[in-house]
Amino acid sequence: MLCVLLCFALCLYECRGAPNVVLIIADDLGWNDVGFHGSNQIPTPNIDALFSSGLSLQNHYVAPICTPSRAALMTGKYPIHTGMQHGVLYGIEPRGLPLSEKILPQYLKELGYKTHLVGKWHLGSYKREYLPLNRGFDSHIGFWTGKIDMYDHTTQENGLWGFDFRRGFSVAHDLFGKYVTDVYTDEALKIISEHDKSEPLFLMVGHSAVHTGNPYEPIRAPEDLVANFSQIEDPQRRKFAAMLTKLDESVGKVVESLQRHSLLKNSIILFSTDNGGAAGGFNLNAASNYPLKGVKNTLWEGGVRGAAALWSPLLSKVPRVASQRLHIADWLPTFLSAAEANISISNLDGIDQWGALSQDLKSQRTSVVHNIDNIFGSASITVDQWKLHNGTNYHGAWDFWYGPSGREGSYDVNAVLSSAAGRAIAELGMMPTEEEILKLREASIINCQEVEPISCRPLEAPCLFNIEEDACERRNLAGLEPEVLQRLLQELDKINRTSVPPNNQPLDPRGDPKFWGRTYTNFGDYQRPEFVC
Ligand SMILES: *[C@@H]1O[C@H](CO)[C@@H](O)[C@H](O)[C@H]1NC(C)=O
Ligand SMILES: *[C@@H]1O[C@H](CO)[C@@H](O)[C@H](O)[C@H]1NC(C)=O
Ligand SMILES: *[C@@H]1O[C@H](CO)[C@@H](O)[C@H](O)[C@H]1NC(C)=O
Ligand SMILES: *[C@@H]1O[C@H](CO)[C@@H](O)[C@H](O)[C@H]1NC(C)=O
Repeated sequence: MLCVLLCFALCLYECRGAPNVVLIIADDLGWNDVGFHGSNQIPTPNIDALFSSGLSLQNHYVAPICTPSRAALMTGKYPIHTGMQHGVLYGIEPRGLPLSEKILPQYLKELGYKTHLVGKWHLGSYKREYLPLNRGFDSHIGFWTGKIDMYDHTTQENGLWGFDFRRGFSVAHDLFGKYVTDVYTDEALKIISEHDKSEPLFLMVGHSAVHTGNPYEPIRAPEDLVANFSQIEDPQRRKFAAMLTKLDESVGKVVESLQRHSLLKNSIILFSTDNGGAAGGFNLNAASNYPLKGVKNTLWEGGVRGAAALWSPLLSKVPRVASQRLHIADWLPTFLSAAEANISISNLDGIDQWGALSQDLKSQRTSVVHNIDNIFGSASITVDQWKLHNGTNYHGAWDFWYGPSGREGSYDVNAVLSSAAGRAIAELGMMPTEEEILKLREASIINCQEVEPISCRPLEAPCLFNIEEDACERRNLAGLEPEVLQRLLQELDKINRTSVPPNNQPLDPRGDPKFWGRTYTNFGDYQRPEFVC
């Protein structure tokens, strides 16, 4: 009898095998762009299905901008410890995430995973050795730089312009004109349907949405879908809504496909933004972080509190709103732990959160380094309930609160249940009832406390907030809590001493796409630039 039980218990693990890990990373999605966070303006029923049947992550921190955030996700380290802390990587910049870093797909590959990247890379492309296929991914369709036009797949930056779309190392000219979210969805579905179930799957879908493309038409989405949002007055926000809807539909199709191929029951899905939303016209975009302060590439909560949900049947206490404090660097050790990898890696900033998230235990993470950028002159850390700001970006031009709130109108909870993702999850018996969904959503909505504001001028003096009580960063307590302020300044000083210099490089004109058939390429591999001849 004991043996039967033991064998059965063993089989549960052995027969199941390591979990599939699916990362869906949205680009520049704001806190308030997920319907589950309180906005009724742009329905995101598929994304909300993940939030409502898994963990709605309330205290999930990301880096304020793309390259640093993806570097942290891939390495399990703060950007200040890999030299990736200052700004983004440019297509003609001879730089990449240091090759000394072993990254998530490399660890997973060693555990027998098949590893696929669909979409954005943005961690270095001037030499082949920095590209996804040389850093642990078995396949890649997508782009190398920071953003592309959704239809023509070109990018304009630093006054240059070129095509940036690849199938592995080859230029994918054949996909020109196809809406890029559809390209990613088709590829993800193909990977899922062709996946050999005897091996675990690692699939990362790095969406282009909802980042802007090029200045000639920053936000692009199918016209008939844009027309569906005529009730939204701001024309940019209307296009944004259509772009976000395409992203949401993609999430639904991926979840549905995982279920159809019997992979969902043994999957862990992380849906997350890479950084806060580009609101109020920042980057020519129309995201919303309401009611949080600031935008992408600022260290206010609107820039670093990342909209995210973790979903898996392997989590014990779901669904719930998870208040555990997390940083995007935590996902590497967390996924390795979920895969029962039993390896210890030194020098990680990331913490294994699997047990805390699954069992609803206290997070081991008491502090978060939001960033220290000594070129911009901005730094922010959170320790316990306290958040410190020293300096700010853009000389303070984006240190405000932006809408829209989207709170008018009503929430269509039925759309969540009847979404593609909702129906797939229901097949596993994991969808909560309408009432439960509404309760969880209510608990996921951040409302600013009624506090008397105390102004903060971070260029003049450091600011201090009680972030647990004042998520909206309206009441600067630096003057009222001088001892706490000193303690955090000392802590910042201490952490600053551990940071490595940023590895940004001057742009290399050899990389100009005009020399390479109008294409961004791995120009650093060519000793004698062809254009010289
Ligand atoms: C626009 O909305 C209508 C009504 O909800 C729907 O039938 C139609 O499919 C939508 N159009 C697109 C392109 O999604
Ligand atoms: C994990 O690894 C350590 C040392 O590498 C070993 O002592 C331990 O038995 C392993 N645990 C499991 C559950 O495999
Ligand atoms: C705060 O910022 C200023 C200006 O960038 C810098 O000189 C100072 O060292 C910082 N203070 C601490 C404690 O980090
Ligand atoms: C960090 O240290 C550098 C010198 O190594 C200094 O220039 C900079 O101001 C410090 N920044 C902070 C935020 O302490």
